[in-house]
Amino acid sequence: MTQVVSCAVIPAAGLGTRFLPATKAQPKEMLPVVDKPAIQYVVEEAVRAGIDDILIITGRGKRSIEDHFDRQFELEYFLETKGKEKMLTTVRDLADLADIHYVRQGEPLGLGHAVSVARKHVGDRPFAVMLGDDLMVDESRVLKAMIAAHETHGSPVVALRDVPRADIGSYGCADVDDPDEGTGRPRVVAVRGIVEKPHPAEAPSTMAVMGRYVFTPEIFAALDEVRPGVGGEIQLTDAIALLLDTGPVNGYVFDDGRYDIGSKLDYLRATVELALQRDDLGGPFAAFLEDLMARRGGTLSAAGADRT
Ligand code: G1P
Repeated sequence: MTQVVSCAVIPAAGLGTRFLPATKAQPKEMLPVVDKPAIQYVVEEAVRAGIDDILIITGRGKRSIEDHFDRQFELEYFLETKGKEKMLTTVRDLADLADIHYVRQGEPLGLGHAVSVARKHVGDRPFAVMLGDDLMVDESRVLKAMIAAHETHGSPVVALRDVPRADIGSYGCADVDDPDEGTGRPRVVAVRGIVEKPHPAEAPSTMAVMGRYVFTPEIFAALDEVRPGVGGEIQLTDAIALLLDTGPVNGYVFDDGRYDIGSKLDYLRATVELALQRDDLGGPFAAFLEDLMARRGGTLSAAGADRT
């Protein structure tokens, strides 16, 4: 019987260079989206999918992540004496979200290496990998479906989304056996091959690996085998390719609700979508956007200005 997936590894050791200067002195995972740091959404997504044991892989300069999920007695005392009960609960609940552990990556040798440092913590359990800068605004639909697929098939599962061919070079790319191709429905497919950041002209498909994975512990042995790949880094994708030599790997294809928080444009998109979803802010924020559009003559693009 397949074991229940109750552990998630969140690699959060990257430098966030695409978001400079905001990430010069703070981790990109701590950038606020509306009023929560991006990584809190990822942790909440894990918890909603039934995970209660989380290992965050950190590195230099990531201390604020640990502080965020820890108790802060001075602040709690202040809120308590001021009678700010709601705020107090918000701050306290954060420390009780899940069992959160931390380990440092040491050297920035790549995503595959970051996952490999989780080995001791994970042991012989299946586990999820959730990239700290991939934000899902989908009530954990994708992760839950991936865990269900793993429980049915027993194999590793990677999240996949069809992207324009010009963009595939920014992602892991999976060659899939997809009987439902073209329907756009979320579905489980068989992965035939996988390659990290191929040149668009040579990519085997336009199915991009998004930052959610479910693995069995076999991934650690595969990571031991992997030699530095794209960018001179130990790539997780290359280890998945090795898994394909010994057994099946599945893909879970979905089509929306994912944002790359390390990209400025996706960050703005995520902020707008999540703000519109909020009970307390959605109404007035939507009114503002509509008013802004009206003031610009019915379009959001500045009158006569470029859309860039
Ligand atoms: C990483 C992975 C890549 C995956 C991507 C998803 O790349 O190596 O396979 O498609 O995350 O966000 P990175 O964005 O860290 O360059």
